[in-house]
Amino acid sequence: MKNKINIGVIGFGTIGSSVVKLLLEKRRLFRQRTGIDLNLMLVCDKDLRSKRDAKVPKSMLTRNALKVIQHPDIDVVVELIGGVHPAKEIVMKSLAAGKHVVTANKLLLAKEGSAIFKKAREVGMEIFFEASVAGGVPVIKSIREGLVANTFYSIMGILNGTSNYILSRMSSDGASFKVALKEAQAKGFAEPNPLLDINGMDSAHKIAILSLLGFGKKVRMQDIYVEGIGGISPIDIQYAKDWGYTVKLLAIAKREGSELGVRVHPTLLPSRYLLSSVSGAYNAIFIDADLVGKQVYYGQGAGKLPTGSAVLSDIMGMAEAIVYGKKSSRLIAAKRAEIKTLKKMDEVRTRYYVHFSALDKPGVLARIAELLGRHNISIASVVQKERRAAHIVPIVMLTHEAREKDMQAALKKIDGLGVIKGKSVLLRLEG
Ligand code: HSE
Repeated sequence: MKNKINIGVIGFGTIGSSVVKLLLEKRRLFRQRTGIDLNLMLVCDKDLRSKRDAKVPKSMLTRNALKVIQHPDIDVVVELIGGVHPAKEIVMKSLAAGKHVVTANKLLLAKEGSAIFKKAREVGMEIFFEASVAGGVPVIKSIREGLVANTFYSIMGILNGTSNYILSRMSSDGASFKVALKEAQAKGFAEPNPLLDINGMDSAHKIAILSLLGFGKKVRMQDIYVEGIGGISPIDIQYAKDWGYTVKLLAIAKREGSELGVRVHPTLLPSRYLLSSVSGAYNAIFIDADLVGKQVYYGQGAGKLPTGSAVLSDIMGMAEAIVYGKKSSRLIAAKRAEIKTLKKMDEVRTRYYVHFSALDKPGVLARIAELLGRHNISIASVVQKERRAAHIVPIVMLTHEAREKDMQAALKKIDGLGVIKGKSVLLRLEG
């Protein structure tokens, strides 16, 4: 029986060098644990000059990805370069060349996942991608395998460590957005373009992957309502806290019958919820399903060791499938077909937090309430806070459940009133 699995790694950056280091340093340990010899054969990167933690013999290094993809003895190609191109071409060519693929590339899977899975099925190869969502937290394996017997009602999570770090710093120490973002960058978990973290797109890529696995629905980026944390100020975090809520950037995939609504936005969560206490760069995913009920997965969603752990788990899973001829359950979850349509954001019903900056004059609150009422929006609580600027008062309210379309229409009217100064802040609430 073949028990030596040959591996080629493409992408020798932060995660790549961590994976290479783990493969070299823990080879004997992995062999003891699994009986399988994980043999690193080639490492490819266009930059072979930069210093890395991993010490790799020169003979193992190449700048030419084709050398890895076309190597007759390589069983598994590990793609860790990130981005869509040329990662897609590398993955497609590897599958076509009869290689199994492990990738950590969330952007690639969110945008091209369906085409890649189709190709893998056609050629009878496997593609594993545990590291693409929530770093070291094995949530993909849980959805695909551990929860395979379940029908999911909702999957929602704090999937971006950078945003969560910024919100936590703003909430606990009143740090400014700018300072907190700088810290996140210095700690190394922000994307090279941190806009993707703070504008919610990174979370959108990840919830698209989880939606495909949990609900069998291909969700395109344009189908997801995405709002980042750029509009959140410490004062709204404080007002929400006064009411017993914590503000989190949540990625939500929620099913109603045969419809699935997928959205990413800052969300008020009751502070007693487990997800509310997830702070710093940590990730957490809440799952509600018919058999297991409610579960929360929690851990480090970024960083070279947690992400390396997920990549190694995939490599070992793949090696086991090759050596023992086991067919994995990888795409069972993706064959789910319960969802027929995607819910339009306009039709989503939720509760809202609204912060108006109004002139401190008689009758202002009544005019706001009247406009909300005309749009079928019922107020649950309202507080007028102390003045923060001359003649302007913050009026903050929580509504009962209302339709997004109605809320947007009401807000447009209210913001057009002469007594309202500046754009109102609208946040959604879960729970
Ligand atoms: N930039 C991402 C984050 C890294 O902040 O969570 C992990 O995907």
